[in-house]
Amino acid sequence: MLLNTDSVKPSIPENSCNPLWQQLVEHKKDFSNTSIAQLFEQDSDRTEQFSLKSSGLLLDYSKNLITEQTRRLLTDLARQAGLQTAIESMFRGDVINQTEGRSVLHVALRGGFQDNPKIAVNTDIQNVQDDIRKFVEQIESHQWRGYSGLPITDIVNIGVGGSDLGPRMVYEALSPYQNPTINIHFLANIDGSDFTNTVHGLSPETTLFIIASKSFSTLETRKNAEAARSWFIQQGGTEPDLAKHFVAVSSNVDAAVEFGIAQDQVFPMWEWVGGRYSLWSAIGLPLALGLGYENFKALCGGAHQMDQHFLTADFEQNMPVLLAMLEIWYQNYFGAHTHAVIPYDHNLRHLPEFLQQLDMESNGKSIGRSGQSITYNTGAVVWGGSGTIGQHSFHQLLHQGTQLIPVDFIVPLRSHNPVADHHSHLVSNALAQSRALMQGKTLEEVRSEMKGQGLDSGEIDRLAPHKVVPGNRPNNMLLMNYLEPSSLGALIALYEQKVYVQSVVWDINAFDQWGVELGKQLSQTIHPQLVDPDLVPDFDSSTNRLIELFKKGKI
Ligand code: F6P
Repeated sequence: MLLNTDSVKPSIPENSCNPLWQQLVEHKKDFSNTSIAQLFEQDSDRTEQFSLKSSGLLLDYSKNLITEQTRRLLTDLARQAGLQTAIESMFRGDVINQTEGRSVLHVALRGGFQDNPKIAVNTDIQNVQDDIRKFVEQIESHQWRGYSGLPITDIVNIGVGGSDLGPRMVYEALSPYQNPTINIHFLANIDGSDFTNTVHGLSPETTLFIIASKSFSTLETRKNAEAARSWFIQQGGTEPDLAKHFVAVSSNVDAAVEFGIAQDQVFPMWEWVGGRYSLWSAIGLPLALGLGYENFKALCGGAHQMDQHFLTADFEQNMPVLLAMLEIWYQNYFGAHTHAVIPYDHNLRHLPEFLQQLDMESNGKSIGRSGQSITYNTGAVVWGGSGTIGQHSFHQLLHQGTQLIPVDFIVPLRSHNPVADHHSHLVSNALAQSRALMQGKTLEEVRSEMKGQGLDSGEIDRLAPHKVVPGNRPNNMLLMNYLEPSSLGALIALYEQKVYVQSVVWDINAFDQWGVELGKQLSQTIHPQLVDPDLVPDFDSSTNRLIELFKKGKI
């Protein structure tokens, strides 16, 4: 029995002047009695028709609940939503982040504006990239040394959100490219355990701290930066030595200078690069240091290729557009609320966390671009983990749970670390999961298998229903040759642009994040209550009691 989504109410804009939203409601009925497996049986060319290659990636999206008509309707929906204009606006540098009054120019950081008359932007970018390159050369050549004359061996990036997740994910993903003489560490959490664990074993003489904060006002980063400065002094460094051990990346240069970083040691970034889109800016400094400047440039080069594909390819052959529209198909018509990303590459294990911020901070919105309330599904909950680890935990729900959860599998064909026949087993598991989700196993197949195993009919009747796998669960397969700087760059840009496409079709602004502010404001009012014994909290009774318990220090 297939997972039944017939009763799912479409979650689409009411009274939209775009008739395609409604046409897709009708079209979905075609899938009531047709499974993905049947679509494969009907068309031997299906894989050819529903796969494409670009920028070192191959996307096979044939195992989806789609026909050619679905693709046409979905891409028409995107057209009607003004996607072409929206893409051009981004690449022209228009103010597309309306609520913050900003252009969105991360594509310029990877070469997207070279043919564009925005000369000022290109010159600024070039200057900062030159500074990054020179700094990397100084560290690598040991021209830049710590206060006691020893070379720098450890670099701690202090940042959170977009100033942490992208560099952290890429550094791990490209571990075969890591410079063995420099270790990069990432410190993000305000939990003292993160600080303590990170500095454990480090020497102040050979450690450099990068304070990475676009705003330079983020609590976690400021507190960790203060703790790092105190640790440095306690461990034997002096105030004048700080200059050799602290640099910053920020668009708020004044605040970084006020904190005590020399002005010429602040790598600037700009208002027009959003935190979660900023790994291509000086926020990527730990990558240039830890992987080498050329590898950092190759990462940007891969992203640029994907940008060019996004800008120029027809929507029917456009990878970010197709991935985005498939997700809209499932979120708005099939009742899906989450989306799993499962890389079959251990080094990509931080990718789901990076994508969570990228996707959920961008598209987790319920107010439209003109301030209207949104009544239909927008951003999905993005989650996942690396294969094969997830197979032994959450895949059970993917296969037999009651929810439809579209999956992206990401598989490099070749391994940087060949060990015996591990890699062929890894890939065969990825392919098996993709096929199992799509194909499932019927009651008849289960019964005949059990009969073949010699089980008696009573046992078969009792157990068979539990072993049925419904199948018909959609998934995409993204392949690359190797996980290398250029293919990773293309992969990240693919998801960035996919998120943008969805925001355009859903009519929301992907580039602001007002929802995170309330918690920050409240924390500022709660903190004094926690630390001042004379203050009596006046919140709701639950919060008041929790504050009292903290003050007592025991439950
Ligand atoms: O709180 C959310 C957020 O503003 C993210 O959007 C951002 O990536 C992160 O905080 C860190 O901000 P900053 O780089 O300014 O410290």
